[in-house]
Amino acid sequence: MNTKQVEIKNSSVQAIEWLAEGKLRLLDQRLLPVSEVYLDLGDYQATAAAITDMVVRGAPAIGITAAYAVVLGAVEKYNEDEMRWKASMADVFDTLARSRPTAVNLFWALDKMKAVVAAHKSGSPIGQLLAAAKQIHQDDIAANIGMGDAGALAILEQSGASRPVGKVRVLTHCNTGSLATGGYGTALGVIRSLWKMNRLEKVYADETRPWLQGARLTAWELCQDNIPVTLNADSAAAHLMKSGEVDWVIVGADRITANGDVANKIGTYSLAVLCKHHGVKFMVVAPTSTLDLNMSSGGDIPIEERTAQEVTHIQGKMIAPDGVNTFNPVFDVTPASLIDLIVTEKGVVSAPFSESLAALC
Ligand code: MRU
Repeated sequence: MNTKQVEIKNSSVQAIEWLAEGKLRLLDQRLLPVSEVYLDLGDYQATAAAITDMVVRGAPAIGITAAYAVVLGAVEKYNEDEMRWKASMADVFDTLARSRPTAVNLFWALDKMKAVVAAHKSGSPIGQLLAAAKQIHQDDIAANIGMGDAGALAILEQSGASRPVGKVRVLTHCNTGSLATGGYGTALGVIRSLWKMNRLEKVYADETRPWLQGARLTAWELCQDNIPVTLNADSAAAHLMKSGEVDWVIVGADRITANGDVANKIGTYSLAVLCKHHGVKFMVVAPTSTLDLNMSSGGDIPIEERTAQEVTHIQGKMIAPDGVNTFNPVFDVTPASLIDLIVTEKGVVSAPFSESLAALC
């Protein structure tokens, strides 16, 4: 592996890497934790397919990957026709925009890259586009580290007295770590920071059916970093909360609307309802690239539905009757009224979110 370009790194796992030879290296998250396989992609179509097929997933990671894919597209279009490459970029942007619908970070990153294309004057655009993609990548890591520390401090401020040892027990859903972001993670970043501060007792990781991001990815990342993790079936969360085992639920987000509604992995909404019932605090951690303040509320968020096979099969093995009807929405929307804190790199906010989020931006 060429190491000259590996300046963007912040944790034991690196899921996205731009290679000096002009390819994008992605860790194939479909195969974890059994195999650690890297795919080197040389064109934007293959990269869009990698996003659709979940080689790479997680809202910020999708945005970063799309930004690098724009570079791959620009190389192709510029080599085809130096005079008309800008016009041909529409196909690159459209293809990438169709790759997944819910995480707004994808569209945010594409808009940033579109602005670089629009502003380009003459000569090869590749240097400028690559610098912009790397900046998006680097900014995401910096945001995550900032959010991690801010979120951890907010938790300690609010729950410092509630546990004699001063350590917190958290439950998280899906994967929001280095695999889902540029590095460090959003919700998992807060968990890493609590661990760094020696204030984390344990992490419960929901397995996150049907794609098992919690079992396959979060548990793997936390084990790699020796952070104490206990894997549980999603349906065990209510019992854990009732038993007084969880102080905070910490999750990421794929889109946050102007009123503070949050789209995140299916199952997040049920956790928030459970938190309200059991008096457990609920925190959402996401960079401002996940905010969609043009959308007034969560009812307008496009919710991705994926194939029946994700529900009827586990790791290729059929577990349900052949031909059974299925329902597989992969995100849900948690109403703002169930959320205690939203942590961004610009600050930690609480209700009323329509005011506090607007003030942040
Ligand atoms: O379908 P996925 O795996 O892309 O869904 C990911 C999530 O829902 C994450 O919780 C969310 O993107 C926040 S990640 C930092």
